[in-house]
Amino acid sequence: MPVTIGALRESASHESRVSVVPEVAQKLAQTGARVVLERGAGGRANFPDALYQGVEWADSPGAVLAAADVLLTVQPLGVEQIQQLRPGAVVIGFLQPYARKNEVLALRDRRITSFAVELIPRISRAQSMDALSSQAAIAGYKAVLIAASHLQKFLPMLTTAAGTIRPSQVLVIGAGVAGLQAIATARRLGAVVEAYDVRSATREQVKSLGAKFVETGVSAEGAGGYARELTEEEKRKQQEVLDSRIAAADAVVTTAAVPGRPAPKIISRAAVERMRPGSVIVDIAAEQGGNCELTRAGEVVTHNGVSIVGPVNLPAQLAYNASEMYARNLLNFLKPAIHDAQLKIDWSDEVFAQSCLTHEGAIRHEPTRKALES
Ligand code: NAI
Repeated sequence: MPVTIGALRESASHESRVSVVPEVAQKLAQTGARVVLERGAGGRANFPDALYQGVEWADSPGAVLAAADVLLTVQPLGVEQIQQLRPGAVVIGFLQPYARKNEVLALRDRRITSFAVELIPRISRAQSMDALSSQAAIAGYKAVLIAASHLQKFLPMLTTAAGTIRPSQVLVIGAGVAGLQAIATARRLGAVVEAYDVRSATREQVKSLGAKFVETGVSAEGAGGYARELTEEEKRKQQEVLDSRIAAADAVVTTAAVPGRPAPKIISRAAVERMRPGSVIVDIAAEQGGNCELTRAGEVVTHNGVSIVGPVNLPAQLAYNASEMYARNLLNFLKPAIHDAQLKIDWSDEVFAQSCLTHEGAIRHEPTRKALES
């Protein structure tokens, strides 16, 4: 029997992406695998069923869950869905190990082999599988468009018969994958862009995109290329400089994150009150608590004429391309494990070993195990 790879129509209300797009379904089928999809799986991302070739259709999520040896998902499966999987089945997707305690325990107890794409190591060889990056780039792009649509100003400089219009000032805080894409997008739209990150390595990347780097004299390199938490003194110093740049901006896009921790609070109420009316903050970190004190996830808050937008699941707002990129990430991750239409995971490969969340009844990701079992 060939390995059966399944995908669901995502059930979370804000989720319109799909884990398998037609191009990827075809490539999976070409490995000899059987591909089983829930009817309408790609519908909300504008991939109608008719575009998929070489797949089998299931009428209910339960039928997919019961059939799958490998289940590809965007959002974490719920506990009830996990109970319907076959013991020993493999699940690959955004599993939110730091947030979804009950789901991780259910995966462990159901003896599911689960891989969290969030845990895929950020090494060169795994770049084509890096779903955090592909989806963060989309979020950064979309955040700038949201900022532009809230502003009552142009982003570019315009020289018109009615006089010259000054370009908008955009400040991007956090210059990781999302932040760099936000900078590039704002620059393409003609804004004057400044950016800030605690990692000094971002300075050159910011400049190469045509933006100015905000110098605060604070550096916060942490393990694995991610940021560490700052000390109180460092935070105060960073804040003084940043507050003055925030006050000068028409639009601020914030993307600052520390893995497994709540988002750092970078924009205080007082800093918002120094901004000009009509200015806008788009806080990509809204779901992790927000980089701005006034952010509310899923809402637009107006304070002294400043709009603070807290978008939820930005990649889903660009579901077509987000699904394409995500599905390719999953294909690149899974394909090396399929040999002669059978699944054979090479556990000596650090990509599989490090991204494994649960396997054979144990939590394999040590920080998650410590958090849940101690
Ligand atoms: P992330 O989403 O975890 O964080 C976003 C940004 O916020 C980071 O650049 C971080 O330094 C910054 N940040 C954190 N606290 C801050 C604060 N208090 N003030 C200002 N900025 C703050 O980061 P992302 O985009 O996931 O990237 C994480 C790391 O992984 C980076 O070093 C990146 O270059 C690296 N990376 C490597 C890849 C590869 O080699 N395959 C692929 C993608 C990323």
